Amino acid sequence: MAIKEPVRIAPADGKLGVLLPGMGAVSTTFIAGVEAVKRGIGEPIGSLTQLATVRLGKRTEGRTPMIKDFVPLASLNDLEFGGWDIYEDTAYEAARNAAVLDPALLEKVREPLAKLHPMEAVFDQEYVRRIHGPNTKEARTKMDKAEMLMDDIRQFRERTGVARTVMVWCGSTEVFHQPSEVHQTLKAFEAGLANNDPEIAPSQIYAYAALKMNIPYANGAPNLTTDTPALLAMARERNVPICGKDFKTGQTFMKTLIAPGLKARMLGMSGWFSTNILGNRDGEVLDDPGSFKSKEETKLSVLDEILQPKLYPQLYGNLFHSVKINYYPPRGDAKEGWDNIDIFGWLGYPMQIKINFLCRDSILAAPLVLDLVLFMDLAQRAGMRGIQEWLSFYFKAPLHAPNVYPEHDIFIQLMKLKNTLRWMRGEDLITHLGLEYYD
Ligand SMILES: NC(=O)c1ccc[n+]([C@@H]2O[C@H](COP(=O)([O-])OP(=O)(O)OC[C@H]3O[C@@H](n4cnc5c(N)ncnc54)[C@H](O)[C@@H]3O)[C@@H](O)[C@H]2O)c1
Repeated sequence: MAIKEPVRIAPADGKLGVLLPGMGAVSTTFIAGVEAVKRGIGEPIGSLTQLATVRLGKRTEGRTPMIKDFVPLASLNDLEFGGWDIYEDTAYEAARNAAVLDPALLEKVREPLAKLHPMEAVFDQEYVRRIHGPNTKEARTKMDKAEMLMDDIRQFRERTGVARTVMVWCGSTEVFHQPSEVHQTLKAFEAGLANNDPEIAPSQIYAYAALKMNIPYANGAPNLTTDTPALLAMARERNVPICGKDFKTGQTFMKTLIAPGLKARMLGMSGWFSTNILGNRDGEVLDDPGSFKSKEETKLSVLDEILQPKLYPQLYGNLFHSVKINYYPPRGDAKEGWDNIDIFGWLGYPMQIKINFLCRDSILAAPLVLDLVLFMDLAQRAGMRGIQEWLSFYFKAPLHAPNVYPEHDIFIQLMKLKNTLRWMRGEDLITHLGLEYYD
């Protein structure tokens, strides 16, 4: 039974534009997958918006609707795709090159993918060093480039007739930068765009263009983008939802499953060594130390936040944590990750856990992109703005308010996500107290 007023949510009428800076492996696997699902030749495995249910009320009530029936989400048939890339390949060609999906499946969705030509990218070799492509914008200033992106978006809207739009960064990982002076206020940021401040990355120019047009922005890569005072303030002032960063897929996903479990039992940990081989274009970009540093930061932060060594110094105070990514072309998108975890139990006796995850990076990432598109659109229609912490579930380094630590435990993240949906619909939040069943 509903206990309070539901949040007012505008209906999901009309088409939803999905704008993707970066049309590589993840983007094309996502788009091809949506087209396959629409044609009934694939299942949206891994997507909460398509497959998950949400329990409502008491366990005795038996109310567990599908999430997509519980909150008004855009339907897959209403999605229209657009994107930018430094290469001129259509989405079909890019998907063929990425070689994630079988050619036979790709042929069946060839028509919509072949029609999808990437718009010219805003690109800067200083930020992504290992790849070079011809399909880029030339302009005098970074502000001019932001205006050109806004023009692209206007034309996309006219061409497709979409009623709303969201943007998800699926571009390469940019090199590691800390926020600088130019990122402190929107005024400084706009001045920096006008005078080509070198600290402003291409991804930030896309984010600025999106926010300026009131388009929700999710960051799938680990680089610094909306997580700066200037763009955070802009999102709040303009009532636009944002979230990020770095899709939580392979090895880090495993980490956030296992670490909370070990900690729940108060088992100690002295070391966690993670290494990967990866052969796709993402692997090539991450072979550059600057880009890897962005990734390393988000991958390393996870364990510290989950294990809370300051609260449990005898269990986690001396943890040695190392993460390596090796570019190994023969594997393509089929990444292999190895983890060695040194743990200790009662009286300090040591034990080891080994994980060997043969995963497919883009197969894991594609459903996350879909959920983020649909949930970010929902958030905007529900009047939510700024950081969407309830979407932390999808990220390695969730954006968070400055006065709280990020929540990395995937089960808490899931509870938070579902409680947010319950809250939107005026349903009781679920605390799992459950004493009433035993009265
Ligand atoms: N696949 C996963 O599981 C996963 C998980 C977490 C994060 N990510 C991140 O998602 C991003 C995409 O991954 P991917 O496997 O699709 O990589 P990819 O290399 O196949 O695709 C990225 C594309 O972005 C393009 N690009 C680079 N800079 C651009 C710019 N400024 N504007 C427009 N396009 C630009 C590249 O040309 C490339 O085609 C990467 O940053 C990756 O680190 C992926």
